[in-house]
Amino acid sequence: MADLDSTVDAKDFGIGTPQSVPASPIKGSDQLDFGMRHRLGRIFQGDGRTVMLAFDHGYFQGPTRGLERVDLNVVPLAPWADALMATRGIMRTVVPAASPNALVLRASGGPSILKELSDERVAMDIGDAVRIDAAAVAVQVFIGGEHETQSVHNMTQLVDAGLSVGIPVVGVTAVGRELTRDARYLGLATRIIAELGAQVVKTYYCDTDFEHVTAGCPVPVIMAGGKKLPVLDALTMAYSAVDQGASGVDMGRNIFQRKDPVAMIQAVRSVVHGRSKPQEAADLYAELSGGARD
Ligand code: R5P
Repeated sequence: MADLDSTVDAKDFGIGTPQSVPASPIKGSDQLDFGMRHRLGRIFQGDGRTVMLAFDHGYFQGPTRGLERVDLNVVPLAPWADALMATRGIMRTVVPAASPNALVLRASGGPSILKELSDERVAMDIGDAVRIDAAAVAVQVFIGGEHETQSVHNMTQLVDAGLSVGIPVVGVTAVGRELTRDARYLGLATRIIAELGAQVVKTYYCDTDFEHVTAGCPVPVIMAGGKKLPVLDALTMAYSAVDQGASGVDMGRNIFQRKDPVAMIQAVRSVVHGRSKPQEAADLYAELSGGARD
């Protein structure tokens, strides 16, 4: 039965307090649509940062070391990741649908490691990202690469599709072997990606002037991991990137190729969200892994 008394007696209208919504901690997102902001809020935590676990490598590399059995080696890491980055094939086959993580779907593909990698195309329909409940879709952008224009068009096509349904795009700076990963190049690539509409950019760290890369990019920059490094070096790189304005990390091999990936993702998390110093985080890795060095 309708509660008429409660409606008549209602008086707590907060008169004198203007209605407000807190500003978003996610760079450049305040003027986005509600659904897009809600999805970004699943990727980035209240501190504006994310620990994203990348295991989409199979889309061009096949069964990379550490990813032979994603169900056995990667799914157990999910509780310490804010977001999981994978292909729709892996999402549907081995990532539990009940998983509370934000899902970032690899949406470009085409060439394998046997061919010219920059020759990618959009490899999924945005409708499928909606069906999977993706928090974002990810696409490689090969600035300076042989198929630069095609890869930029892949991204802009996904940005338009994403805007139509409220799904953000993560533009990934794909650096070919011949290109130098310095602040000048990374600043160029990240800025182009953001200017053309991506709501998040993933890029590599560089030792000099990385803060120029993050400052010049109007959307969150998340640091790509790259090849496996010694534990302390990987944690130092993550620490330095966040210290210089990155909104978190998207790491793969530096986590899942460790002797103890569960310990490593906790160490990375302590750097990104706990702001642990690199040595403290390395000590945490050693403690949780029972003394593993690799
Ligand atoms: C790009 O090249 C892909 O997104 C990778 O498969 C992945 O993100 C790389 O992760 P990591 O370099 O940290 O292993």
